[in-house]
Amino acid sequence: MKLVKTIKEIREIVSEWKKEGFTIGFVPTMGYLHEGHQSLIKNALENDKVIVSIFVNPIQFGPGEDFATYPRDIDRDMEKCSEAGADLIFAPLPEEMYLNDFSTFVNMTGPTDDLCGKTRPGHFKGVCTVVNKLFNIVAPNKAYFGEKDAQQLAVIKRMVRDLNINIEIIGCPIIREKDGLAKSSRNTYLSVEERKAALVINKALTGGKNMIQNGEKNPDKIVSAITSVINEEPLAKIDYIKIVDADTISTVSEINGNILVAAAVYIGKTRLIDNFITGEN
Ligand code: PAF
Repeated sequence: MKLVKTIKEIREIVSEWKKEGFTIGFVPTMGYLHEGHQSLIKNALENDKVIVSIFVNPIQFGPGEDFATYPRDIDRDMEKCSEAGADLIFAPLPEEMYLNDFSTFVNMTGPTDDLCGKTRPGHFKGVCTVVNKLFNIVAPNKAYFGEKDAQQLAVIKRMVRDLNINIEIIGCPIIREKDGLAKSSRNTYLSVEERKAALVINKALTGGKNMIQNGEKNPDKIVSAITSVINEEPLAKIDYIKIVDADTISTVSEINGNILVAAAVYIGKTRLIDNFITGEN
């Protein structure tokens, strides 16, 4: 597994690969990889070469969030990447990505206004800026993002459309533990008791999904049912439960078309997100 830390070196490698006619798949991550990331890598194997970036992006964390404590282990990540079949890891230092007088940001409105954009102000400005930079540095043909971060996926698709970025964005399904908890690097923060409590998120969302499958069309009733189940768990505190259009992330008054049912819930101090999408076209 080749580990590259500088923008100059990754550009040289990518340029050689392109000269040889190779297509490049890109999986942007913040590291501490799990089977969810590995499934993105496996999807990216449809390209000739797969690059994984590992960069805990300081500008997408707000004050008091877990930037300093976010789990980091490059040796473990190298093993996970090689197991999944990636060719190269790009792991720049923060000073390589952000010069002292860095001052250009990608600021989106619309799909970033609600859900995580509302409860984590500035988060998507950080995500869009770093993903845009990574796209410019790596210049892949296709980039792969998990549907667990459904709003992020919608935001990246919008950015690529709006800024005419010539990269195909591929969304990949949520990967879950056997008991239903969505895989996340942040699951490592959970104590044994919190890990059990976290199951309430998928349980509540599954209840909501069943309501929709049984014909419920009223988003308020579904949100209210999901909320009641989560509120029964003493270790859980809801950040948001929302039902929105999956592409525009705007509120809907009826379950119709491509709908995202999204939850962000604190289990103890750990904020977890999960969702399902219904009526996908
Ligand atoms: O989803 C993530 O891990 C991050 O938000 C991303 C896309 C790598 C940008 O830092």
